[in-house]
Amino acid sequence: MKEYKVLGIESSCDETAAAVVVNGRQMLSNVISSQIDIHRLYGGVVPEIAGRNHIEAIDGVVRQALCDANMTVKDIDCVAVTYGAGLVGALLVGLSFAKALSLSANIPLMPVNHIEGHICANYVTHKELEPPYICLLASGGHTAVAEVDDYLKIKILATTLDDAVGEAFDKVARTLGLPYPGGVEIDRLAVKGEVSYKLPNINSEGNFSYSGIKTAVLNTVNSLKQKGDNVNIENMCASFNHFAVEGLVYRAFELAKEKGLDKIAVAGGVGANSLLRRRMEEEGEKRGVRVFLPQKSLCTDNAVMIASNGYFKAANGAPFADMTLNAKPTVKLSAE
Ligand code: KG4
Ligand code: ZN
Repeated sequence: MKEYKVLGIESSCDETAAAVVVNGRQMLSNVISSQIDIHRLYGGVVPEIAGRNHIEAIDGVVRQALCDANMTVKDIDCVAVTYGAGLVGALLVGLSFAKALSLSANIPLMPVNHIEGHICANYVTHKELEPPYICLLASGGHTAVAEVDDYLKIKILATTLDDAVGEAFDKVARTLGLPYPGGVEIDRLAVKGEVSYKLPNINSEGNFSYSGIKTAVLNTVNSLKQKGDNVNIENMCASFNHFAVEGLVYRAFELAKEKGLDKIAVAGGVGANSLLRRRMEEEGEKRGVRVFLPQKSLCTDNAVMIASNGYFKAANGAPFADMTLNAKPTVKLSAE
């Protein structure tokens, strides 16, 4: 089989990333320049600052990705770039760089939907994974259970009616006075606590809703404060983590059963959550469903998943982009 080498470029939020992937599955390099330490000072991502930092980092990050893969631009068959969803000023940096590279080196340009990219982290981790399967998408911007019929056909079966799960993790962490990004902090502290606070279920008429659980945490913290008491942070982390995760696990397996599919993959930043990973594996074993978890480092934003998606799009006949390709803050999935 001919080797098809894709250079992936990602700059949708606070990570500037570039990677080289062969045939959608073999990772040759993975470079990530994270701005987390900068945005932590502000308690969240500041779009203007993100854009400026991407500009400073992008050239070095792409050069490093090529160098780590032992390649030059001439060896690359396709440049895959995230065009959405994300912060428009951040997206434009990666996009403009990719367009310039494509034009000057005469390499085809493949636009990638960031969310579809997250799913592809599984193809790099699990060489044997092929559609059809159910995917639990759990990131900072999206929460959904999708049916992946084919490499390019993704159908949403359940989604969030309000906040995304990662967003809820970050907001609850802020309520508890924990640093950004909150998901990792809650995950870390939850291990030390017990599920002692009763919080609302996140399953809502076949979909998900995180506004109730988020408000319940805020109300509990405020009413304890009024009485001069403090919330037990570790127990609240354990409680929120439990309720935030259990509803996702439940719905993913219910929908797999309904669709008669015996494979479930997890995608997105919250896929790094240790409770979610453990519960998915436990439930998979109990129900005879194979669970695919991306390696932890490929759960959060990276360009390996973007390069992988670029390959599968090119291999399945998706059109390349021209120089009019623009950044889109919101994008739908392929089959929506
Ligand atoms: O997929 P991602 O990197 O970016 C988006 O595309 O949104 O997801 C980032 C989200 C953040 O909300 C972050 O708090 C959450 O993923 N996250 C976690 C963990 N690691 C990252 N949430 C829970 N537990 C974690 N270990
Ligand atoms: Zn992401």
